[in-house]
Amino acid sequence: MLNRFQRALFVCSLASLPAMIYGFSNGPVPGRTGAAADGGLDCAACHRTFAPANSDPRGSLRIEAGPYTPGVAQTIRVLLSHPEAQRWGFQITARLASDETKPAGKFTQLDGFRVVCGGGAPEGNCGTNPEFLDHTRPTTFAGQTGGAVWTLEWTPPATASGEVVFFAAGNAANGNNNNQGDHIYTTSTRIAERAPCNLTTTPSITAARNGASFRDTGFALNTMVSLGGTGFQEAGGTRSVSALDIVGGRFPTELGCIAVEIDGKRAPITYVDANQINVQVPTTIALGDVGVRLLLNPGTANERRGRDFTIKLENAAPALFRFLPTSSIAAIFPATGAPAADPAQVPNAVKPKIGDIVSLFATGLGVSEPVYLAAEITPLTAQPRARDQVTVEFNGVAMSTADVLYVGLTPGSITGLWQINLRVPATATPGQNNTVVLRMGSLSSQPGVTLPVGQ
Ligand code: HEC
Repeated sequence: MLNRFQRALFVCSLASLPAMIYGFSNGPVPGRTGAAADGGLDCAACHRTFAPANSDPRGSLRIEAGPYTPGVAQTIRVLLSHPEAQRWGFQITARLASDETKPAGKFTQLDGFRVVCGGGAPEGNCGTNPEFLDHTRPTTFAGQTGGAVWTLEWTPPATASGEVVFFAAGNAANGNNNNQGDHIYTTSTRIAERAPCNLTTTPSITAARNGASFRDTGFALNTMVSLGGTGFQEAGGTRSVSALDIVGGRFPTELGCIAVEIDGKRAPITYVDANQINVQVPTTIALGDVGVRLLLNPGTANERRGRDFTIKLENAAPALFRFLPTSSIAAIFPATGAPAADPAQVPNAVKPKIGDIVSLFATGLGVSEPVYLAAEITPLTAQPRARDQVTVEFNGVAMSTADVLYVGLTPGSITGLWQINLRVPATATPGQNNTVVLRMGSLSSQPGVTLPVGQ
């Protein structure tokens, strides 16, 4: 296994090879997605070993894209897999279904990607010529096995344009720095224009609850909150946030034609159905009573506003997530990801023992250091710890700080999700459910939630 420094050196020495003047692994030539309108060529024109494309059913290429709203940027994912490949590349283009020679919208040239143009237009500025978004060297993920996922940003045409078709080609390569021994795949996906927002219900919030404790107190900046009420969606409508709703690394503030304002700021939304909305309290310095307002069809001519509901914001609102519907704290063994609970209550769980390391999950622990804002996703490489002191009590006894290994945001998750890594203390009672409480000054997490400890 190369360490990060060695890997960096490896990439530099590659760049000095004479073959690199062609720069293919730094992004292929335009017009190789297999789109018929471009002549049907794909990467197999040069990567010929297993030509034609899609000849090996063990691999696959997929485009994930949801319906579009004119002019509103959205996330597109390209997923390529092959059991033997060790390096990856792709090219994608977006066309009007009504005329596949015409580009549809624009790709954002995010770091690690490159926009090349058809019709001889200069790189990065295609004008009215078709656009092709490619990998560059860093996003070939040299050495990575199993597959690759590229997360892209695309802005649809500003006006209603009917269906859009994406064409993509992928190279599941063997990493030998040449065009031999690589498996090529092609695919296409059609998306529709999203129907305009036209909810006609009359919304009303009747309850606000902390998203972990479900108590109707316990609200603070960045806390996960569950709003209850009626008329949030047409009957039967539900919408959960998906990877495609995360644009620019942020959770959406509108989902299923619903938006929520807390203290006048848009709240990130993770779930909506007719009677429930899950949101994150925006990052705010406000304390005390603030208004929660619901907007239906936000930003449109038929926008409807609900009556304000009031919640009380505190500095922090510690609460532990549970394995619903039990009172067992949502805990895992971080090494395996297996649930740490009673297998009689949670399938495939194992009871932790004294000395085992477990991760518990919480919301409402205040501000992190460094600060991350509501809607953001904690980077996988970051360990932002709670700024204010959090004491963990096991069976009413404060744990020694040596046994509390980490109290911080959960990497890869929304910033409302905190993680507490602890070593089950010697003071725990084996063979019993042990209560766990988080204390922050005078505030504490809900009573009555427990972690079972095995013999
Ligand atoms: C005109 C010929 C040509 C076309 C078309 C072409 N490539 Fe390549 N590709 C090459 C050559 C030559 C190399 C080796 C030199 C280099 O890495 O730059 C290469 C290397 C690569 C590599 C690194 C391979 C490895 O095993 O290390 C990737 C990944 C790649 N190409 C992706 C693509 C994709 C994706 C497409 C289609 C969208 C494509 N290429 C189309 C010629 C081509």
